[in-house]
This record gives sequence, structure tokens and C-alpha cells, in this order.
Amino acid sequence: MPRNLLDITDLTVEELDELIRVAEDIIDNPEKYQDACAHKQLATLFFEPSTRTRLSFESAMLGLGGSVLGFSSASSSSTAKGETVGDTIHTVSCYADIIAMRHPKEGAPFAAAQVAEVPIINAGDGGHNHPTQTLTDLLTIHREKGRLNNFTIGFCGDLKFGRTVHSLINALSRYENINYVLISPTELKLPRYVKEEALKKRNIPYTQTTDLESVIPDLDILYMTRVQRERFFNEEDYLRLKDSYILTPEKLEKAKEDLIILHPLPRVNEISVAVDKDPRAAYWRQVKNGKFIRMALILKLLGIEVK
Ligand code: CP
Repeated sequence: MPRNLLDITDLTVEELDELIRVAEDIIDNPEKYQDACAHKQLATLFFEPSTRTRLSFESAMLGLGGSVLGFSSASSSSTAKGETVGDTIHTVSCYADIIAMRHPKEGAPFAAAQVAEVPIINAGDGGHNHPTQTLTDLLTIHREKGRLNNFTIGFCGDLKFGRTVHSLINALSRYENINYVLISPTELKLPRYVKEEALKKRNIPYTQTTDLESVIPDLDILYMTRVQRERFFNEEDYLRLKDSYILTPEKLEKAKEDLIILHPLPRVNEISVAVDKDPRAAYWRQVKNGKFIRMALILKLLGIEVK
């Protein structure tokens, strides 16, 4: 059976730490890895829009000396003619050594893994999970803070539909002494199943609030998220909630000097562009890290070790 990454908990903490170690080695010694995936092919099957995830996967495989194929929208594939996910994956398994897929339906990559003969990577499934964004986030926290424990992290925005939040909380809940501050409008609170699985089962304390400004001085990491328009059933609700939080330089005046601000991106309006100049804004560095951790992941799932 091929090894997949469908949920971040498919990887042990030791494996997460090893992926971070390899990604940091790739950053320091890119030439060592430049032919590691020669003659290997990555397929990127994106049934939903993407800029960073798809292009960083493609850049990662090219940086490893491999090649890429795929599609960037369901409408340009035979999905538009009614082909099932299973048949699409069966087909692409004949052409590629590894598949990264994004799909609007929660669980689609799990269904894909049932028929695939090559590793499947979940590149985001609906409002559920986004494990490779979590790998990016963990690498960024490690590079910015030098550790993956002993901090207070605030998640702010759309915690209901924000799949990056669900996966990151699931990952961090296995590290020591992390305080969680969940900041959202009441309608966009973290789903109960994430709270139960990741936090309550492990007796991990958390606080919930609607007020970002009152908690900002306590945070070591602020993880901002976009309100996910595409997951709303009702445009009126989206319009009412979309600007619930807008981070500005003024709001950061009371924050710690060594705070880091993360965002999976894309940003809409929730971080003012004036914040980009603040050295605490780590989200563009986070984008860069996404390529290197995906390189490390491709190597791992293909069973390639670089000495
Ligand atoms: N972070 C993220 O998933 O971005 P894209 O939607 O651009 O891939």
C-alpha cells in the first residue's frame, strides 16, 4: 500500500520533526537535492482554485529534478463530463508517481486513496483539513521561534470553515504546553468535533472570545484567517461577517515585540497591507517555506533518502 498524507495525524510527531529537519537541510543545501526525484512525476489535481498550494507543489517537484502534470480546475478535466473522482484517480495513477489533490468535498482525498496505486496527498478538502499547509505552518513556527512548544497561539477569523486551523490545532495538540485562544464571531466558532478530538480528549485548556484586541497582548503567535466565502450557503451572512477582524498597525501596538503573525493566505481584508512592513509579519516567509516542506514530504512519500 502506498503511504498517503490525508490527515495531519497520519504523521507521528517524530515524522513531523524529521520533515522539518529535512526541509531545513533543503533550504541550506538545495543542490544536494536537485536530482533526487529525477524521472519521477507529480500530478497536481486541483478541483478547486489555488495559487500557493498547487504552485509550491509544482515548484517543489521541479526543485527535486522531477516533472509535473495535472489540471488546475475541474472544468478542464473529464470531471466536467461526469467522471467520478475514483475513475480520475485510477487514470492518473497510470501516469504519475505521486498525486496532490484538492477537492471542495470533505473526504474526497480519502475516497481517492481507496483506488490509487500511488501516494495521495490531501491538498485541501472542503472545510475539513489542509495537512500540507500545517506542515508549512510548523516549519515557519520552528524557524521563527526555534521551537514547537511553550507558546500561546491565537487563531482568529473563520474557525468554522478554516481547514488550515483544524489541521494545525490537530498537529499542535501533540506538542507540549501550548495555550489556545480561539477568536471568532459566534457563528464561526471552531467546530465541536475539532475541539473534542484535538483539545478536550487531551485535557488541553483553551479560551474562546470574540474580541481580538483584548487578547492580543498575550499572544506569541497570531494565526489570522480569511472568512471563507465559498463555504457559505447565504451571501448575506458572508457580507455581515467578512470584516469581523481587520488587523492594523494600531491594533498591534499592544502586541509582544516577538509576536509572529501567520496567515495561510490568500488574504482578503483581514490584514491591512500596512502590516506587511512590520517585522512580526511572517506570512510571506511562510509562503516561501511551503515549497521546502513539500519537497521534504514528496521525498518521504516516495521513500527517497538523500545522504
Ligand atoms: N494556503 C493556501 O491553501 O493557499 P491557496 O488556496 O492559494 O493554495
